[in-house]
Amino acid sequence: MLSPWLAPFRSGVTSLVLLSLCNYAMGRPFYMRWSDRTYGPDGPWNAVTIGVGKPGQQIDLYPGSTWESRVLLSSICSNDTISSTCYARDAGIFYPDSSSSFGNESISLGPNGEWGPGQFGAADAVGTTVEADRALIEVDLGGTLIPDVDFITISQGYQTYPGGKNYPLQVGILALGAPDINQTFSRYDSDPLNGTFIASYLWKYADVGIPSYSWGMHIGSAAHQIQGSLILGGYDKNRVIGDVSAQPYSGPHFPIELLDIGIGVADGESPWDGPGKSKLLAQGNSSLSSGITVKASPADPYLYLPESTCDALASELPVTYQPDYGLYFWDESDPRYLRIVTSPSYLDFTFNKDGVNTEKISIKVPFALLNLTLEAPLVEKSVRYFPCMRTTGTYALGRAFLQAAFMGVNYIDQDNGNWFLAQAPGPGYSVTARTTTITATDSTIAGSKNGWVETWANHWTPLSGSADKPENVNSGSDDRSDDRSDGLSTGAKTGIGIGCGIAGLVIIGLMVWALARRQRRKANIPAETKSADPPHPYRQVVPAQLSAHTPIYELASSSKEGPYEMR
Ligand SMILES: *[C@@H]1O[C@H](CO)[C@@H](O)[C@H](O)[C@H]1NC(C)=O
Ligand SMILES: *[C@@H]1O[C@H](CO)[C@@H](O)[C@H](O)[C@H]1NC(C)=O
Ligand SMILES: *[C@@H]1O[C@H](CO)[C@@H](O)[C@H](O)[C@H]1NC(C)=O
Ligand SMILES: *[C@@H]1O[C@H](CO)[C@@H](O)[C@H](O)[C@H]1NC(C)=O
Ligand SMILES: *[C@@H]1O[C@H](CO)[C@@H](O)[C@H](O)[C@H]1NC(C)=O
Ligand SMILES: *[C@@H]1O[C@H](CO)[C@@H](O)[C@H](O)[C@H]1NC(C)=O
Repeated sequence: MLSPWLAPFRSGVTSLVLLSLCNYAMGRPFYMRWSDRTYGPDGPWNAVTIGVGKPGQQIDLYPGSTWESRVLLSSICSNDTISSTCYARDAGIFYPDSSSSFGNESISLGPNGEWGPGQFGAADAVGTTVEADRALIEVDLGGTLIPDVDFITISQGYQTYPGGKNYPLQVGILALGAPDINQTFSRYDSDPLNGTFIASYLWKYADVGIPSYSWGMHIGSAAHQIQGSLILGGYDKNRVIGDVSAQPYSGPHFPIELLDIGIGVADGESPWDGPGKSKLLAQGNSSLSSGITVKASPADPYLYLPESTCDALASELPVTYQPDYGLYFWDESDPRYLRIVTSPSYLDFTFNKDGVNTEKISIKVPFALLNLTLEAPLVEKSVRYFPCMRTTGTYALGRAFLQAAFMGVNYIDQDNGNWFLAQAPGPGYSVTARTTTITATDSTIAGSKNGWVETWANHWTPLSGSADKPENVNSGSDDRSDDRSDGLSTGAKTGIGIGCGIAGLVIIGLMVWALARRQRRKANIPAETKSADPPHPYRQVVPAQLSAHTPIYELASSSKEGPYEMR
C-alpha cells in the first residue's frame, strides 16, 4: 500500500507516460469553448461557441455530430410562417453576406431541397423539413482557423412534432469529424472540392496539431451547473467514471446494444414500493427482451424508445402522456414528483459492453437530470417534462441521456476506430480537468476511479430512512487516491513531458506539481436537516478553459491516402 502522497504516482504513472509519449511529437488536446448561455426549447442544454465565416460570427451550436455541421441562415428569420419570433437568433444565425468565405462553388451542391425526417440528428421521431445548401465555411476556434469546414446551411425550415404541428428550428449542430478525413465533392470541370472537419483538420493539416483524430465529450447539465467538456484529441478523465465501453461506430452513427432499463436508488429510501425495478425495456413487449440497438445522438434532445418502453417507465412516475409532443409531462402537484427528482433515484441503462455479449456496462441517469423544461415556442407556458419520446423509427439516446454520460470517438484509420461510452459525474465533478491524450491507435480509453455517488451527494436528498448507508454505486475503496491525481493534468498540461517513445530508451522523468487539492468530501449533513425540498448548494463553476496549446512538432500523418467520395 502506497502512502497517500505517493498514490498519484501509482495511478498516474501509466497515464503520465502515455500522456507524455508523443505529446510533443503529435500535438496536444484542444479544448472547445462552451458558451455561457444555455438553450431550449426542451433543455436547458449547454452549447459550444465557434466563429463561423471570415471574420468569424459567434454562433452557439450543439456539438457532437458527424459529417456536416448545420447552421441556420439569417433568412430563417425573415419568414414568419412558422413563428413570428425568431428563436434562432438567440444562439446565432449566420449572415453569409458578411462573410468572405461563403459562397464558393460548393453552394450548388446538394441536398438543395427538402429534407425528410432524420437528417438533423440520428433520431427521426421529430421530422425536420428544410431548404438547405452545402457550403465550405471557415471556422474560428478562438484564433485557431479551420478552412473549408463542411457545412449544410439552412435557409428555411421547421420541425414537425408527433401531433402534426410545426415549430421553428432554434440551434444548429456542430460536427467534429466523420470516418473520413475530408468530404470530397467531385466536379466535372476542375479539381474536387474538399470539405474539412474540425478534428481531422487539426490532426492532419494544422500547424497546431492534436494527437489523434478523436474527441471526448461530456455535455454536462445546464440546470445542474455541470459545465460541458469537449476536448479534441483527448478527454478529461475526471468526466469518465469507471469502465468505458468501446465499440465500433457505423458510418455517421454511434450505435450500441441497449439490454435493459431499470429504476433504482443510490442512497436512502426508495420513492417506489420496492428498492427499484429492472426489465422495463421489454415490459409489455417481449419482442424487446433481447435488447435494441440505440444510437447515441448529441444532436437530438430526447430518449427515443419504443412506445411500450416509454409507457413502462412512465408507469413508475407521476407523468402524463402528451400525444401532441410524443412526450410525458411531470405532474408537479403529485407528491411523488419532488420525491423522485430530488432524491438519489435514477434510470439505469444496461448496455452490451465493448460490443461483446459477455460483458455489460451500466449508465445511471439521475431523475434530477430528467426534470427538463419545454418552453416557447413548443408550449405557451413552460412545463416540466420527462424526455421519453415514443417512436417506431430510430431508437436513440439524445442529450437528456448524455447529460449523465461521457462519449467520445477515435477515428483510427478513419474506418477502424471505436466510439466510447461511460458514466459521467454529477454536479460535484472535479472542475480541474485531468486532460488525457487519445493517441492515434487507442481503441479504448481509461476511466477514472472517482466515485459517482460522491459527485451527486451534495446535490440530492436521500429520502429519510437509511440515509446513512450509501450504496456506493461504481465507487471503489481507492476513490481518494484517484482524486489526488487531479494534479497530474496540471503537470502534464504545462508540458512536463518525458519524450517520445523509442525502443530501449530509458525514460527519466521529473515531475513537480503543486497539488491544490480541493476538499470535495461532502460535509456530513445530519439526516434530519434534509427536507423534501432541499436547497441546491450548487458550486460556482469556473469559466471554460480556452485552448492554449502551442505548436511543438509537425503532426504525424498515419492516415491512409486515397480517393474520397461524396457520401
Ligand atoms: C472562393 O474561394 C477562393 C479560393 O479559396 C477565394 O479566393 C474566393 O475569395 C472565394 N470566393 C468567395 C465568393 O468567397
Ligand atoms: C416560409 O417557410 C415556409 C415553411 O418552411 C415555406 O413553405 C415558405 O416557402 C417560406 N417562405 C419563404 C418566402 O421562403
Ligand atoms: C482536394 O483533395 C484532393 C486529394 O488530396 C486534391 O487532389 C485536390 O486538389 C483538392 N482540391 C482542392 C480544391 O484543394
Ligand atoms: C483534404 O482537404 C484539404 C483542404 O482542402 C486538402 O488540402 C487535402 O488535400 C485534402 N485531403 C484529402 C486526402 O483529400
Ligand atoms: C414492441 O417491440 C417491437 C420491436 O421488437 C416494436 O416494433 C414495437 O413498436 C413495440 N411495440 C410497442 C407498443 O412499443
Ligand atoms: C426542475 O426544473 C426547473 C427548471 O430548471 C427548476 O426550476 C426546478 O427547481 C427543478 N425542480 C427540482 C425539484 O429540481
